[in-house]
Amino acid sequence: MTDYQLSTQAVHAGEERRKPYGAVTTPIVQTSTYTFQDTGEILDFMRRKAGGATSVRDEYGRYSNPTQTAAERKLASLEGGEQALLFASGMSAITTTLAALLSAGDHLVLVSDCYHRTREFALSFLGRWGIETTLVCPGQPGVFEEAVRPNTRLIFGETPTNPYLRVLDLAEMVRVARPRGILTMVDSTFATPVNLRPLSMGIDLVVHSATKYLAGHNDLLAGVVIGARRLLAPVEHARGVMGGVSNANDAYLLIRGLKTLELRIGRQNENGMRVAQFLEAQPAVRRVHYPGLPSHPDHGLARELLTGYGGVVSFEIDGAFEETGRFVDLLRLPYIGPTLGGVESIVEQPAALFSLDPAERNEAGLVDNLVRYALGIENAEDLIADLHQALTQLQVGEASR
Ligand SMILES: Cc1ncc(COP(=O)(O)O)c(C=O)c1O
Repeated sequence: MTDYQLSTQAVHAGEERRKPYGAVTTPIVQTSTYTFQDTGEILDFMRRKAGGATSVRDEYGRYSNPTQTAAERKLASLEGGEQALLFASGMSAITTTLAALLSAGDHLVLVSDCYHRTREFALSFLGRWGIETTLVCPGQPGVFEEAVRPNTRLIFGETPTNPYLRVLDLAEMVRVARPRGILTMVDSTFATPVNLRPLSMGIDLVVHSATKYLAGHNDLLAGVVIGARRLLAPVEHARGVMGGVSNANDAYLLIRGLKTLELRIGRQNENGMRVAQFLEAQPAVRRVHYPGLPSHPDHGLARELLTGYGGVVSFEIDGAFEETGRFVDLLRLPYIGPTLGGVESIVEQPAALFSLDPAERNEAGLVDNLVRYALGIENAEDLIADLHQALTQLQVGEASR
């Protein structure tokens, strides 16, 4: 399937051409286990497995499932990786991968502007298990070089980052890591394989919260890690032990969502750019964080690395915590909530959902007046008209106070 363009792979890759009953869709194999004809079949299976054969057959639901396997093959094809492993959530993919690859005494370099649960897992859980983490700020020259130590095992970054949309210099990450035998991993949730292909740039492993753009419909949780089979062998083993596996229903929905990935991301890239440009021209907006705008600190890097700038626009309202909440409430089209990447637009004030304590928000680098707007696939004119009415009402409200 790798000879085909991404949109063709999205429709066909990973799925059997000839499916049961001649069905056009991959079936949901709703089973917890897989049976054997007799003991002879079990022993034959065990011998082939011991001989190193991969994907001999399904054995038990915590290890594999045919619907999940089809989703994994499609995801591996889209990212250009040898193998993909599907998990119950993005966090399950991240935590299982880190737990599988790191041991006590190892050192992790983590980009600080990342999903806060990833940071929490590294700092508190891995810390307790004897794995030290150094947080580095994206965008500062030489940060990876300065942070690595003789015991560094992995450099892990997110790009574009959440919520400030910083873009990582992946070539720099690889340049520092490779000669030292350090692994590199990128959380590419915000980019998707439509906008960025980290493996083709020399990154070893790519993870996604498939809950977001990959599934695309705000109706399931899933996570995936993609890379070379030899690197993923311990991760697959850890998934079987720790049990954060996906399920056939979600895998089916993920396969369905992936078929329209390129169409959806194309529209979301377009909506992101249109909305960011609109917002930058508004006096009631203090600052817009969008890598497609020349005002973004990583615009140069984004132009070089990304084929689209994505569907998330973060911006700062000219006001404090309360006015920002009022602005969010004045929007009529997006739902208010803590996710992104689906066909429905979703908006949030990150500070409001993060913590009621201003000191904690400050420590996490979250300004009170920040809005994270995850654009869906609605019409850009409608989204802009909605933003316009909310900003106008906000200004009228403030003037009459
Ligand atoms: C960039 C990023 N990575 C990972 C996650 C975790 O994914 P999940 O919610 O599927 O566990 C999120 C969730 O918001 C995220 O935004």
